[in-house]
Amino acid sequence: MSIDVQGKWALVTGASRGVGQQIARGLAARRCNLVLHSRDLTHTQQLESELSLRGIRVVSLAAELSNQQEVDQLVSDALRVADGIDILFNNAALMTPLREPFIDTPAEDFRRSFEINVISPIRITYRLLPHMRRRRWGRIVQVTSGIQDQPELMAYAASKAALDKFVRDTVPMLRGSGVLMNLLDPGWLRTDLGGPNAPNAVESVLPGALVPVLLDGDVQGVLFRAQDYVRLP
Ligand SMILES: NC(=O)c1ccc[n+]([C@@H]2O[C@H](COP(=O)([O-])OP(=O)(O)OC[C@H]3O[C@@H](n4cnc5c(N)ncnc54)[C@H](OP(=O)(O)O)[C@@H]3O)[C@@H](O)[C@H]2O)c1
Repeated sequence: MSIDVQGKWALVTGASRGVGQQIARGLAARRCNLVLHSRDLTHTQQLESELSLRGIRVVSLAAELSNQQEVDQLVSDALRVADGIDILFNNAALMTPLREPFIDTPAEDFRRSFEINVISPIRITYRLLPHMRRRRWGRIVQVTSGIQDQPELMAYAASKAALDKFVRDTVPMLRGSGVLMNLLDPGWLRTDLGGPNAPNAVESVLPGALVPVLLDGDVQGVLFRAQDYVRLP
């Protein structure tokens, strides 16, 4: 059974393109109000206009996720403009360049990956959790990756593994709270991050990406794979 998200508020990080844009469109189709995040307000301007036509409230906010002050400001602004955030999609991420030979991967790749892909999503989660717990309702989706056996992309892969660990070790604290936190692997998709050789169109992330949002019941720490929900023609 899936729940109704009409009138709720979602914060989608990295909503300007790729997976985040699809998630925003999917939530808007269910009449969920949206805070669209990217690094620059102009990046979500067009999407904001498109989704506003659906009669929902849509607000754009900008923050560089390698800057923790901007992350804090993002959460404060989201809570103010949205009157509470019910759904958090920690989707934005950086993939560092492929490094060959992999043993030459610079330390800076790991630093940036962990700042943007681990520390910031965790910080946003920590800031929003008390609000969700008070309201006894929340859906948190951490976007991870099925990447494996690619040491040339280890800074990115290790950051996603750290995010997985965060979810798995935190969810026992959330049982029975009304706040569900789960993981989403969108699959390998043709986006700026996934590149042109990926086997799947970005649109294939729907409807699967919304499954961890629409859950009813105390489902925690599960890895949902969006490609498992692709509708075959
Ligand atoms: N595509 C795939 O094949 C694939 C596979 C597995 C997992 N994933 C995961 O899916 C998620 C979305 O990936 P995608 O393919 O949609 O990526 P994308 O097309 O490259 O989009 C990245 C989004 O994140 C934002 N972003 C990037 N760096 C940022 C930073 N430093 N601070 C703030 N925002 C930043 C971008 O905003 P701007 O507009 O400001 O640049 C953009 O909205 C990521 O978590 C990724 O790891 C993707």
